[in-house]
Amino acid sequence: MKLLFATQNRGKLREVKEILNSSSIEVLSLIGLEDIPEVIEDGDTFEANARKKAVQFYEHFRVPVIADDSGLETEQLLGMPGVISARYSGENATDEKNNEKLLSELSKYPAPHKARFVCSAVYYDGKKFLSAYGHINGQITFESKGTNGFGYDPIFIPDGYNNTMAELPPEKKNSISHRSQAFTKLKSLL
Ligand code: IMP
Repeated sequence: MKLLFATQNRGKLREVKEILNSSSIEVLSLIGLEDIPEVIEDGDTFEANARKKAVQFYEHFRVPVIADDSGLETEQLLGMPGVISARYSGENATDEKNNEKLLSELSKYPAPHKARFVCSAVYYDGKKFLSAYGHINGQITFESKGTNGFGYDPIFIPDGYNNTMAELPPEKKNSISHRSQAFTKLKSLL
């Protein structure tokens, strides 16, 4: 079975290929394709955004699609930044600005600053939807550390670890991440 993973992010593609690739599943991606539809991620939930991506890419390419949406939720900010994780600091958001804004908002509250990464992974083949969630709990640290990963990784310490996600080797992150959990569950549903 050929599956189009709706991403242009090489890091995510590598991670998801490692999980899904098998003798019966071949994972394709958007990398190198032309005329890629732009999907506005305006859903209220990670799953709504992942579904929207899956449907739009299926309608366009007519092959079974898997799509995901992910982000960071914090307890003290009542789930924020959540679905706006990528653009938390505004229109010209960068990982650095998003992290700065998060730390500034969280500084109003005492530690521990509990947080979790969440990922929704959705499969759509024109008839059937399959959907799976993954999450990883941890807390936000004000001491940004590490150069691996992306996004909020340098300020997120997963429960059970003393290092930030950005200090963990990529293989370790990939084995515990919200994305790996969501796609491992999705694989078992396929
Ligand atoms: P998307 O699923 O690629 O749209 O990710 C949305 C945003 O959530 C990213 O831009 C990051 O800010 C954040 N995010 C999602 N997954 C991770 C992760 O594994 N580490 C750090 N940040 C993440």
